[in-house]
Amino acid sequence: YNNNSIFKNNTGEINQRRLPKAIIIGVKKCGTRALLKFISAHPDVVASMNEVHFFDQNYYRGLDWYRNQMPLSLSNQITMEKTPQYYIHNRSAYRMTQTFSNIKLKLIVIIRDPIIRAISDYVQLTTKRKSNLTFEDYVFIKNSTIINDKWIPLKIGCYYHYFTKWLKYYSFNQIHFVDGENLIKRPWEELLYVQKFLNLTIQIQQKHFYFNHYKRSFPCIRNQLYQTKNGCLGSSKGRKHPDIKQETRTILKNYYKTCNSRLKQIAQINFSWL
Ligand code: A3P
Repeated sequence: YNNNSIFKNNTGEINQRRLPKAIIIGVKKCGTRALLKFISAHPDVVASMNEVHFFDQNYYRGLDWYRNQMPLSLSNQITMEKTPQYYIHNRSAYRMTQTFSNIKLKLIVIIRDPIIRAISDYVQLTTKRKSNLTFEDYVFIKNSTIINDKWIPLKIGCYYHYFTKWLKYYSFNQIHFVDGENLIKRPWEELLYVQKFLNLTIQIQQKHFYFNHYKRSFPCIRNQLYQTKNGCLGSSKGRKHPDIKQETRTILKNYYKTCNSRLKQIAQINFSWL
């Protein structure tokens, strides 16, 4: 009989809180919640369901605080968290290198068509502020079709700009990009790539998803994999988007053209909308 296995059973399987081995660092409004919810259906993944905001806001609270935000896990499980603000935050990448000096941290970035992302951000902020301003009111400088590039929801969509900062600290094979447009259409494909990236056995498959026609046909994950009452996302996800003028779309398309093609090149990804 094998001594090692007994040793492992006695100590290695104890439930405890562990630091993340993989973090969804962004991007805001690209499907970060759906991605975390779906990947945490995997038996070997546990995740903090709250946004922890350690590297951007709570860093001063220290590592023990961070670890305490994590759920209990077994030694063979991967602990995860998601905080979409990390991606655009100036110091998050550097701080992560300070925290995770001796474990191989894996980073996941989900991105979608930046125009749709901006609309999603706009819908969220007008819902919160109960504002009547149109999308165009934010996008353009008053009475013009000149882009107001100081408006943060537009800036965020230039994913390339922020990515170069992450590359200063992390290598390509530590960062995985998820196509947020495909996560809505064929989530099992994106989940397959994520499971491979995390070196997990492939558990989450096409048969585990269904489309909820009451929720603008967004995908949900089946209950036997996800142990809560509902495998769909809450009411703040999948909001109705307003119609945007074709002219606005054309101008924005042009605005994002360089960012998109640079990202495509540097990250070596080939998403259909890029
Ligand atoms: P909208 O609510 O504007 O449609 P995040 O979780 O990063 O804030 O992203 C929110 C977006 O995730 C939603 O924006 C929605 O389009 C997208 N999404 C992706 N998959 C989804 C799913 N299965 N259910 C609901 N929303 C999903």
